[in-house]
Amino acid sequence: MIAAPASRSAAQVLVASNRGPVSYTRADDGTLTARRGGGGLVSGLSAIGPDAGAVWVCAALSDGDRAAVAATDGGRLDPADSGGQRVHMLGIDPQVYAGAYNGVANSVLWFIHHLLYQTPLEPSFDQDFRTQWSAYREYNGAFADALAEEAGQGAAVLVQDYHLSLTPRMLRERRPDLRIGHFSHTPWAPPDYFRLLPDDVAEQVLLGVLGADRAAFLTRRWARAFTECAAQLLGAETGERDGEPTVTHQGRTTRIGVHGLGADGDFLRERGHRADVADRMAALRERIGPDRKVIVRVDRTELSKNIVRGLWSYERLLETHPEWVGRVTHVAFAYPSRYDLAVYREYTDTVREVAEGINERFGTPDWLPVLLHVEDDFARSLAAYRIADVALVNPIRDGMNLVAKEVPVLSDRGCALVLSREAGAFEELGGDSIVVNPYDIEATADALHRALSMPDDERAERTGRLAAAATALPPATWFTDQLRALGG
Ligand code: G6P
Repeated sequence: MIAAPASRSAAQVLVASNRGPVSYTRADDGTLTARRGGGGLVSGLSAIGPDAGAVWVCAALSDGDRAAVAATDGGRLDPADSGGQRVHMLGIDPQVYAGAYNGVANSVLWFIHHLLYQTPLEPSFDQDFRTQWSAYREYNGAFADALAEEAGQGAAVLVQDYHLSLTPRMLRERRPDLRIGHFSHTPWAPPDYFRLLPDDVAEQVLLGVLGADRAAFLTRRWARAFTECAAQLLGAETGERDGEPTVTHQGRTTRIGVHGLGADGDFLRERGHRADVADRMAALRERIGPDRKVIVRVDRTELSKNIVRGLWSYERLLETHPEWVGRVTHVAFAYPSRYDLAVYREYTDTVREVAEGINERFGTPDWLPVLLHVEDDFARSLAAYRIADVALVNPIRDGMNLVAKEVPVLSDRGCALVLSREAGAFEELGGDSIVVNPYDIEATADALHRALSMPDDERAERTGRLAAAATALPPATWFTDQLRALGG
């Protein structure tokens, strides 16, 4: 047995993710303001709470974060800024960070797992990619170093997502005593698509994740894709232990787990009934008009969310079902995301242009067909959930999609869900949704019509069942189940 080195905080539970629970903005006078981090991953992990004594290792994402790190003892932030949570933020060199996050993580691995490349022109793995790949290795190594330093003997470490696919193996090399889990919040690509990666990169990503004792996914489908990649690309052996699939390679066995992440019903109901949400509901209602039906979508400005095809489908609905013209409004809220990447900025421009085109074509002085907002306003999103008659969730591919789970929980009058079969949430919610192929505009337009026409009692019944399924695995359960599965 190799003795673990004396560690800095001797934490027994550690979490590692690119985006942490807190981020900082710096005003012109240098003042730093702390703000809660966003996204499905952070919502899920926030369930740890400060009481667990866990340490959360994350990266500095912005100049504000780097200034906050510089003002601390080695990046250990003031717990008061993160609701009591102990956070170790890594001040990674900005160029290394950009190569790892914008380059490899968001322009390559995200594209691979969401099948977003538009071959034959992309991808092309050139010299620039190799520089970014070195940065990604360095960034994953920085996480492994920090975790090795903070973890107590035999601690459980939960490493999150595609940003950190090399960290489990690197950490095992540094600290073989630890129990290491990896969790993918994205889909996993099928082998034929995963093979687009350069051979050595594909191999290192798989070996990196297999460095964990347990690699977990949001659905069985993504877990199966991972084991198929390991079998086909590495020649790994697949098996089963205690009812869970396993992958054995180079003498080590990694268990494969599935943990669907649900909506946090208690939090949503409390937050969704505060005064700021009620104010925004009133403002939305006034803008929309009292008697119109409402189709809602809420996303990041994210290519995989398929916002443009959603708008085209709505336009097609107005063409093929003129009875809805003037009687429905499409509320589309999008949170700005990943604007360092030109393709995300261009996609957002296209979303705006298509929405404006529909408004110019169909709008009248007292009817705005599409109400698009590209900004971050959580209370307004919750207001939209409450007034929705129909929710449109049509991603090209999505690890889970929490919006599909949040809307039924908050809906005031019952809300029909039009759901892509390529969202992870489909495994749990497919039965009570109107399911679509996200590429099929005609079928999505037809699904919107069926959703708008659904009788009130059927809509209410389905919403009740959707809300129950959506909250069956709240974030706290999702988190503790993973810890338990790591044993120890
Ligand atoms: C997805 C990823 C998360 C990520 C979130 C927001 O849900 O799985 O890891 O945090 O998107 O993306 P961002 O790049 O802003 O962190």
